[in-house]
Amino acid sequence: MGRKFFVGGNWKCNGTTEEVKKIVNTLNEAQVPSQDVVEVVVSPPFVFLPAVKSILRPDFQVAAQNCWVKKGGAFTGEVSAEMLKNLDIPWVILGHSERRALLNESNEFVGDKVAYALSQGLKVIACVGETLEQRESGSTMDVVAAQTKAIADRVSNWSDVVIAYEPVWAIGTGKVATPAQAQDVHDELRKWLAKNVSAEVAATIRIIYGGSVNGANCKELAGQPDVDGFLVGGASLKPEFVDIIKSSEVKKSV
Ligand code: 13P
Repeated sequence: MGRKFFVGGNWKCNGTTEEVKKIVNTLNEAQVPSQDVVEVVVSPPFVFLPAVKSILRPDFQVAAQNCWVKKGGAFTGEVSAEMLKNLDIPWVILGHSERRALLNESNEFVGDKVAYALSQGLKVIACVGETLEQRESGSTMDVVAAQTKAIADRVSNWSDVVIAYEPVWAIGTGKVATPAQAQDVHDELRKWLAKNVSAEVAATIRIIYGGSVNGANCKELAGQPDVDGFLVGGASLKPEFVDIIKSSEVKKSV
């Protein structure tokens, strides 16, 4: 189908200068499948972005973990899409559930951010996902569809977007979605895109899974037809991130 496997490492609010160097050294020395097979993007906190970019192997890329919703200016504490572009940072993660929940980012606000970042030439990892309460009440797909719709209402070109399905109950909990649960939502999301955006976008967009992915569970998840990669939190700070990158090889035999 030609969707290149995508593995993102979201370092969240973690790391010291020394720790960051150590992680990058591990990645730089790792034997991983070629860029034709897997796209690898790591996302350090803002303050480490330029340093990581300068020492990271050239076949891996970097992402910011957020950016401001519009052009920079008098917005204390924010970092603009223009600045990321100026520093040659190619990717940005937007709509992560931690920001939706802790900083009250609404679906509309996230949609505006995605549209603005794309307009500035950034590529976007857009995160969606339901809480445990929403899953248990049977509204998973309604929630994920509403989050995706807020983006679809504002975006016409999806070629620089990766969707990360990250069920909130699986993030940082050690409670990974089963391969069937992940596949089910990815498949539904693709159907939603086919109906509401286009058959082409539905077939070509990468939908990656995030939430307690580790070296032990990645292969089985990667074997699912609609799982096009991962957004990894905790395990992206550890050497097992390399094993997660290598799970891309599973697709060769599918
Ligand atoms: P964990 O892998 O630590 O569960 O985090 C997932 C995540 O939020 C990635 O964005």
